[in-house]
Amino acid sequence: MTAIAWEERMSVGYPVIDAQHRKLVELIAQLEEIIRKGGGGNRFEPVLTELERYTAIHLHFEEELLKQKGYPDLDSHRVLHDFMRSQVAKIRKQATVGSPDAAELLGFLMLWLKGHIEAEDQLYAEFLKAAGVKEIPVVPVP
Ligand SMILES: [Fe+2]
Repeated sequence: MTAIAWEERMSVGYPVIDAQHRKLVELIAQLEEIIRKGGGGNRFEPVLTELERYTAIHLHFEEELLKQKGYPDLDSHRVLHDFMRSQVAKIRKQATVGSPDAAELLGFLMLWLKGHIEAEDQLYAEFLKAAGVKEIPVVPVP
């Protein structure tokens, strides 16, 4: 089981985005733990629903920010986000039928997210820094 937690080197240097990434990592870790402990749908369901909700919010937030700042690689970044959206949808499908594959998919998603943050998200962060973006305003997330 891939119990991956937030690591400082995942920081993109903007606290608002780091906090969102942290929350995603925590939700995936929570789901993995529930599965590991053999927790049923009662405990899994609300966390998975929150992961679905927050994934949509976060990816949309990044895409809007990058659009606003004129990030040249937004289209390819969006394609990567579509992959994450499809993975979360797959987890929902597997969890709905009670398949054990949900655990494997979660482990994969965690590795993917970590790689995405450490590679592609760092690239846009470098772009933003070079463009003089000092901080990203806090947007209240419901
Ligand atoms: Fe991203």
